[in-house]
Amino acid sequence: MSKLMFRLGLMVFMLLLHSVPSRSAVSSIDLGSEWIKVAVVNLKPGQAPISIAINEMSKRKSPALVAFHADDRLIGEEAAGLVARYPDKVYSQVRDLIGKPFSHVKKFLDSLYLPFNVVEDSRGGVGIRIDDGVTVYSPEELTAMILGYGLKLAEFHSKVPVKDAVITVPPYFGQAERKGLLQAAQLAGLNALSLVNEHSGAALQYGIDKDFSNGSRHVIFYDMGSSSTYAALVYFSAYNTKEYGKTVSVNQFQVKDVRWDPELGGQNMELRLVEHFADEFNKQVGNGIDVRKSPKAMAKLKKQVKRTKEILSANTAAPISVESLLDDRDFRSTITRQQFEEMCEDLWERSIIPVKELLKQSGLKADEIYAYELIGGGTRVPKLQAKLQEFLGRSVIDRHLDADEATVLGASLHAANLSDGIKLNRKLGMIDGSMYGFMMDLDGPELVKDETTTQLLVPRLKKLPIKMYRSITHNKDFDVSLLYENEDLLPPGVTSRTFAKYAVSGLADASEKYMSRNLSSPVKANLHFSLSRSGILSLDRADAVIEISEWVEVLKKNQTLENTNASAPLNLTAESDSANSAEASDVPNPDDLTTNLVNSTENNQNSVDLGTEKKLKKRTFRIPLQISEKNVGSVAPLSEDSLYDGKLRLDALDSKDAERRRTAELKNDLEGYIYATREKLDYLDELQKVSSSEQRQSFIEKLDEVQDWLYTDGEDASATQFQERLDQLKAIGDPIFFRYKELTARPEASQSAKQYFSELQQIVSGWESKKPWISKEKIDQVLRQAENLKSWLNDKETEQQKISASDTPAFTSQEVINKLLDLQDKVASTNRIPKPKPKVEKPTVKNETDESKSSSSSKDDNSDSKKQETVEEPTEHDELPSSTSYSTKTFAQSPQLTTEEPKMSLHPPSHLPSPGQFTPSLATTLFTP
Ligand SMILES: *[C@@H]1O[C@H](CO)[C@@H](O)[C@H](O)[C@H]1NC(C)=O
Ligand SMILES: *[C@@H]1O[C@H](CO)[C@@H](O)[C@H](O)[C@H]1NC(C)=O
Ligand SMILES: *[C@@H]1O[C@H](CO)[C@@H](O)[C@H](O)[C@H]1NC(C)=O
Ligand SMILES: *[C@@H]1O[C@H](CO)[C@@H](O)[C@H](O)[C@H]1NC(C)=O
Ligand SMILES: *[C@@H]1O[C@H](CO)[C@@H](O)[C@H](O)[C@H]1NC(C)=O
Ligand SMILES: *[C@@H]1O[C@H](CO)[C@@H](O)[C@H](O)[C@H]1NC(C)=O
Repeated sequence: MSKLMFRLGLMVFMLLLHSVPSRSAVSSIDLGSEWIKVAVVNLKPGQAPISIAINEMSKRKSPALVAFHADDRLIGEEAAGLVARYPDKVYSQVRDLIGKPFSHVKKFLDSLYLPFNVVEDSRGGVGIRIDDGVTVYSPEELTAMILGYGLKLAEFHSKVPVKDAVITVPPYFGQAERKGLLQAAQLAGLNALSLVNEHSGAALQYGIDKDFSNGSRHVIFYDMGSSSTYAALVYFSAYNTKEYGKTVSVNQFQVKDVRWDPELGGQNMELRLVEHFADEFNKQVGNGIDVRKSPKAMAKLKKQVKRTKEILSANTAAPISVESLLDDRDFRSTITRQQFEEMCEDLWERSIIPVKELLKQSGLKADEIYAYELIGGGTRVPKLQAKLQEFLGRSVIDRHLDADEATVLGASLHAANLSDGIKLNRKLGMIDGSMYGFMMDLDGPELVKDETTTQLLVPRLKKLPIKMYRSITHNKDFDVSLLYENEDLLPPGVTSRTFAKYAVSGLADASEKYMSRNLSSPVKANLHFSLSRSGILSLDRADAVIEISEWVEVLKKNQTLENTNASAPLNLTAESDSANSAEASDVPNPDDLTTNLVNSTENNQNSVDLGTEKKLKKRTFRIPLQISEKNVGSVAPLSEDSLYDGKLRLDALDSKDAERRRTAELKNDLEGYIYATREKLDYLDELQKVSSSEQRQSFIEKLDEVQDWLYTDGEDASATQFQERLDQLKAIGDPIFFRYKELTARPEASQSAKQYFSELQQIVSGWESKKPWISKEKIDQVLRQAENLKSWLNDKETEQQKISASDTPAFTSQEVINKLLDLQDKVASTNRIPKPKPKVEKPTVKNETDESKSSSSSKDDNSDSKKQETVEEPTEHDELPSSTSYSTKTFAQSPQLTTEEPKMSLHPPSHLPSPGQFTPSLATTLFTP
């Protein structure tokens, strides 16, 4: 049953994503090695503008996992259920495989006992071969699946389409990782507004509700996640600026420095425990048996160890128990916190290094830091906190932020800031920088290496985003390489400083072309770079810059006028420096190049045509060069083709998932119908009145039959097959449950009609005394209609009494209601017949002001005399007595049960009643239209 509920939960969650209205929201995704968290910014009245999107299990974080099993793809919670049984099919850490060389990944996965079937791809990176033994997915594709899941969570939560998101990245993510993550986003159909460093997310969340106008402060954020750790020094301050002429104070923060250990996290501690218990188990079993050789056993052990670690955070000892760890052998043991702390001794030492380095580099003393904020799951370990306290000489480490959610919540503020539609009331300026320094290196024929050909482009911590250009004097084609500045500070797994290489071509051709002209300076190439908000450096474009001096014919001008510009020729050349001239045929890019020859007509007013003269002019040509990116041996981004193919593959998986969900849903519907119907047949005695024992017997047989089918052949049936069975059952069940419902609804409807007949008497006599203008004819019409209904009802009731309750009813409550409503309409329209217009003589002199005053009480602007009359009428009879007015709603609230199969899937799993527990109130809330 719980499995059923679980499936239901998933389905509902996925199904509700369809009918979303056209408003939109933005989100932030904190994609970790182990978890994904999603926050949504959605401005809806009466709702918190920023909130965490919970998943189908009502959890605030979801496992960042993808599994391929038995032809199905499973993501998040669904995948998590398979980890212990199929450790080779459930892919974790996929974020950390992007952009990494194969050998690095292999070592990394082995250290975590993750038995994935990995292959080296053509880029030198890793591909994961799935269950089917054929299909290989790139880490970008697997990551895309998880991001897509995150996007669905956001949409499910906000009930509006969500496409825009910022994605957080660990500070140490290098170029390949960042580019790969953006490609993953693209594959997922996610519009990545930007990547944002995790520490900036945390700093935003910290600073958004504070005011720094009275004092700036340094804060260190210390974040230990499952696989990595960083410490960031952030300076919060405020500056004054003018806004609409008023001086306002604006808060901001600047990231001063970040230090990290990309291979230290909560996972390392868990691995120590795993190793410890693995040894212990091996010793217990003896015979040279090694539990480490069984990936399944290791997966079980890892799962239990997580709990053991958690227990140790609050207790001095913790047990561990793994059933059938290996070969049906159970494993039981305990460990004390002290033992645990001892086996991780070196990790505690390592954990303070990032903070140590921050303080050393900044020259700040520990007590000059206003606060140390701990975030990330890893910082929950008491020993780690103690270690930091000891190092900092502080008894209190600050934990003002939510360890799990600070980053994603803060990142959502950045998302809101970047989106067009959303304005934040509170402002916080964010200055984050490049986590690595970058250099440019040029190489090519006849290129003399000097300080201009290898130079620093971006110093570390340079503010993002930024554009820059470099000019080099050269006239042959060449290559541009981009490198990390420092060999000692490379992203994990990266062995080469060079991360991009571009061939720049067209320069040799261009210089050749202009060689015969009078070059006034050597040919140059301008290289335009950008460092994006996401921290990605790229060479965007390159131009050849060619300056020549040559004689051109210009119109002679009136000297007197020219005299106002004493040094006309000089100035002319100065101008031509910026406004480049060229023959149109020379220039692929006409935008850049406009002639600076004087337009004679334009100047006719100011100068007199004195013929032409020759002048020496300097002209500058800018010719765009071609840039092509070269493979540099490290893991390159996906090619356009791979991206295209990847998108197709992911789309195919998505539609297969949708079909799987539809099938599961219909199967559940069928299962649910059978359960609920059996309950009703067992417990609703009144069903016996509306069905013969033969009818019930054959119904039960049919239910048995379908149920048997469901658990045998039907196990893997298609959506259509489930639908067919359900329809068959309903064809039998619906009439019975309808008659059951009518058992009470029909007499109620008849009763209501009869009651109305007597009320109608009063209404009619009211008309006779108070509305004498309603003609007898009209009243007769009403009475005739009432009489018809009365006799119809009598006939039908007699008829119904003659037949069995298990036969098709002679009439239905709905028929009665419809007829009654018709009658009521007739009564209401008769009641509305206005008093005929009296022959009022218009007063000869009408005072305008008077008139408008009196008419204002009629609540109508275009008041004429007719309206004024009706205002004076007694109002009591304009409305019919409320007790007699009917609405379909009264009847629609069906008592007890309806014939529809229970649509349990409309509620989250935790609220699902078991089929036996259908309370009337639930039934009504579920089914009222
Ligand atoms: C700033 O300082 C002034 C004077 O010291 C005080 O009145 C004011 O409340 C402070 N503002 C904030 C936001 O702390
Ligand atoms: C928001 O945008 C403004 C203007 O571009 C920028 O100055 C500020 O740093 C941004 N803040 C955040 C939190 O993104
Ligand atoms: C130049 O213009 C000035 C003022 O407009 C005029 O007085 C003068 O005669 C002109 N010179 C010639 C050569 O046309
Ligand atoms: C050229 O004209 C500008 C004003 O447009 C002036 O500032 C500059 O000094 C002139 N250049 C020379 C060389 O006279
Ligand atoms: C030059 O003058 C002609 C005639 O008035 C006009 O059509 C043309 O646009 C002008 N060219 C420039 C570059 O101003
Ligand atoms: C209309 O009545 C107002 C006050 O009720 C009065 O001031 C005004 O003179 C009257 N106008 C005419 C045309 O009688």
